[in-house]
Amino acid sequence: MPRDDKTGPVGYDVRDGVAVLTLDAPPVNALSAALRAALRAALARANADPAVRAVVVTGAGKLFSAGADITEFGKPARDPALPEVLAAIEASAKPVVAAVTGAALGGGCELTLACHARVAGRRASFGLPEVRLGLIPGAGGTQRLPRLIGPVAAFETMLSGRSLDAGAAKTAGLAEAVADDPLPRACALARDLAAAGTWPVTSAHPVAADAGTRAALSRATEEAMRRHGALSNTAALIRATEAALALPFAEGLALERAEFAALISSPQARALRHVFFAERQAAKVPGLDAATPTRPVARVAVIGAGTMGGGIATAFANAGIAVTLIETSDELLSRGIERIRAGYATSVRRGSVSENSAEAALAQISGAVGLQAVAGADLVIEAAFEDMAVKRAIFAEIGRAAGPGAILATNTSYLDVDEIAAASGRAGDVLGLHFFSPANVMRLLEVVRGGATRPEVLATAMALAKRIGKLAVVSGVGFGFIGNRMLAARTRAAERLLLAGNPPGRIDAAVTGFGFRMGSFAMTDLAGLDIGWRARKAFGGFAPVADRLAEMGRLGQKTGRGFYLYPEGARTGTADPEVADLAMTLGRELGIAPETLDAAAMTERLFLPMVNEAARILDEGIAARASDIDLVWINGYGWPVWTGGPMAWADDIGLRTVVAKLDAQARQLNLPELAPAPLLRRLAAEGRGFAGFDAERRAEGRA
Ligand code: 3HC
Repeated sequence: MPRDDKTGPVGYDVRDGVAVLTLDAPPVNALSAALRAALRAALARANADPAVRAVVVTGAGKLFSAGADITEFGKPARDPALPEVLAAIEASAKPVVAAVTGAALGGGCELTLACHARVAGRRASFGLPEVRLGLIPGAGGTQRLPRLIGPVAAFETMLSGRSLDAGAAKTAGLAEAVADDPLPRACALARDLAAAGTWPVTSAHPVAADAGTRAALSRATEEAMRRHGALSNTAALIRATEAALALPFAEGLALERAEFAALISSPQARALRHVFFAERQAAKVPGLDAATPTRPVARVAVIGAGTMGGGIATAFANAGIAVTLIETSDELLSRGIERIRAGYATSVRRGSVSENSAEAALAQISGAVGLQAVAGADLVIEAAFEDMAVKRAIFAEIGRAAGPGAILATNTSYLDVDEIAAASGRAGDVLGLHFFSPANVMRLLEVVRGGATRPEVLATAMALAKRIGKLAVVSGVGFGFIGNRMLAARTRAAERLLLAGNPPGRIDAAVTGFGFRMGSFAMTDLAGLDIGWRARKAFGGFAPVADRLAEMGRLGQKTGRGFYLYPEGARTGTADPEVADLAMTLGRELGIAPETLDAAAMTERLFLPMVNEAARILDEGIAARASDIDLVWINGYGWPVWTGGPMAWADDIGLRTVVAKLDAQARQLNLPELAPAPLLRRLAAEGRGFAGFDAERRAEGRA
C-alpha cells in the first residue's frame, strides 16, 4: 500500500517498494536545518521500513534544490550538518537514486552526488555556484565531482559556477539517464540496484590522476589564479581539488570542510552574500507587486543603429525577441546592420557563440528607415544622439506613430526623462532604459521611472530585463541617474589628483589596485573623451584636463591619443609625459597645491566623494535602497564585487570614519561640496550604516 505522509519539509511516500523522499520547502527547497533533519529522519525511516527496498530523492516545485540555506550563513551552525546527512545517504543500506526534476545547485547538487545514481529530467541542471558566494562547495562537492567527471572538468565547473544541463550531465558521466519523467525512471533504477544488491558509491570511485590529467589541471589552476587570484576562494578551490587527487576521500573531505569554514566568515563571502540578497531585493519595486499586470512584448523597435542601438538590438535578438532597427537613411541602416553582423562573426570566431545561434539571432533583426516603422512594435527604445531637442522631436513623432499600449523608452544616460516623456503626449507609457556599453554584454540596466510612468509599464520593463538576462535597477529621474551621477564625482576627484601632480598612470594603478579591471582614465580613453566633454559643455562639471585634451583632438583610443598614447592601434595605453605636464600647468593656473599621494590615500580621495553623492541620491529617493547603488556600480562600472559595492565598502569602513575623512577632505581642499551629506552625518551620528538604512526602509514598506 502506498503511504503518503507530508508532515515536514520532506515528503515520504512508498511506491512499490521504493520510498520517495520529496524535498518540499518552497520557494527553492533550500537545505535548511529543518529540511536536513527531516531528510535524515526520512532516510532512517526508509532504511528501517521492511516494505522498502530502495529510496528515491526528488524535489517538489520548479527546482530540485538551490542548496544550502544562505540565510543560515554567518549564524551559529545547526545540526545536522549537510555533510553528515550526505554521508548517511551514501552509506545507506538501501540504494538511493536522485530524480532530478529541475536545477540542483550547490548543496542540492552535492546531495545528488552522494546518491548512488542520478536520473535527470529534461529541465534538470547540475551546478556548484558556491564560488559566487565567496565559498567553495562544502558538502563533498570538491571530492565527489572529480571522482564522477574527472578533476579538470570538475575544477572548471566549480570555478565557473555554471550549470550543466541534462544532456551535458549525461555526457559528462554525472547523470546515468535523462528522462521526460525522471521519477518513475529513478524508481525503476533504484529497484534494479536493490535487486542487483550492489551499487556505485561515489566516494569509492578512483580519481583520474595520470600525468596528462595532472598537467591539464595545473594549467587550469594557473589560469584561475591569474584571472581570479584576488578572490581568496580561488586558492582554496585549487587546494581542495588537488586534495581529491592526492588524499583519501575522508581526508579530502576534512580539508574541504576546513577551507569552507574559513571562507564562510570571510569579509569577501559576507560581501558576496550581500550582493546575492541585493539582487533579489532589486527586483522588488516599491509600488509594484505580483498583481501588477504586464504588457506583452513580442517585437521591439530600436531607434538608432550606432554602437549603442546595435548592442541593444543584439541583446534582444539573443533572447529570441524580434527587433526592428530604425535609421534615418539606407546607408546608416546598412552600416549599423553590418556592424552587428561583424560582431556576431567575431563571437563565432572566438567560440563564445555557435554559428547556429548567431544565425538564429541575426534572423530576428530587420531594418527600416523612418520613425513610422515603430508602428508594429510593443516596445520602442530610442538610442539616438544625446540631445534634448533631438529626443523631444523623436518622442513627439513616435508618441503618434506607435500603437496603443506600446511602451516608449529612452536610452539617455543623463537627460530628464520627464521632459522627454512630456513630448510624447503619452507620458504614462514612457520610461528610461539606460543600457551600458556594450549593451549586449553589460549586465546592468538602469530602469528610469518617470513621474508619470504607469506601474504596468515599469513592471513590463522589469520582466523584460530578466528575459534578456539583465540585472535591472530602478532609478528615479535626476541628472545622470544613479551610476553616472556618481561617476561624475569620481571624475572630479580624479581630475583634482591629476591637477595636483599625480600622473594618470599612478591614479589608475590605485583604481586597479583596489580591484577595478580598468583605471578611470583608461576607461575614459576607451569610451572617448568627446562624450564627457559634450556632457560637461551642456550640463557643467569639472574636468579641465579632459576638456583640454578633447579640444586638442585627443579623444582617446579612437584617435590614438587621449590620457595615454595608443601607437598603431594598441589597446593598452602608454604614459605620455605631455599629459602630466599639461595637468601640472593647468593645476598651477587653478591654484591647486601640488601633493603626491600613495595608492591608499588616492583611493579615499576617489571613492569617498562617490559614497557622499550616493547618500544624496538615496536621500532624494532617486535610489530606493543603498544595495541598489551597490549593484549599479558592480554591474555597470566594474566596482570589485568582493567588496560588496561602494555602500557596503563604506559600511565596512564605518560611517563615522567616512564622515571624518570627508570633513577632512573638504577642509584640506577647500571644497564645501565634499562635506558629508546630511543623511551620511545622520547615520554616522546614530552609529548605523547603509545596511541599517535599507532595513529600516524595508520595514516601513518603502523599499
Ligand atoms: N538559500 C536561501 N534562500 C534562497 C536560496 C538559498 N540557497 N536560493 C534562493 N533563495 C531565495 C531568494 O532569496 C528568494 O527569496 P525572496 O523571495 O525572499 O527574495 C527566493 O528564494 C527566490 O529566489 P530567486 O528570486 O533568486 O528565484 P529565481 O527563480 O530567479 O532563481 C535560483 C532561483 C537559480 C535558485 C537562485 O535563487 C539562486 O541562484 N540561488 C542560489 C543558489 C546557490 O548559490 N546555491 C549554493 C548555496 S551555498 C551551498 O550550497 C553550500 C554548500 O556547498 C554546503
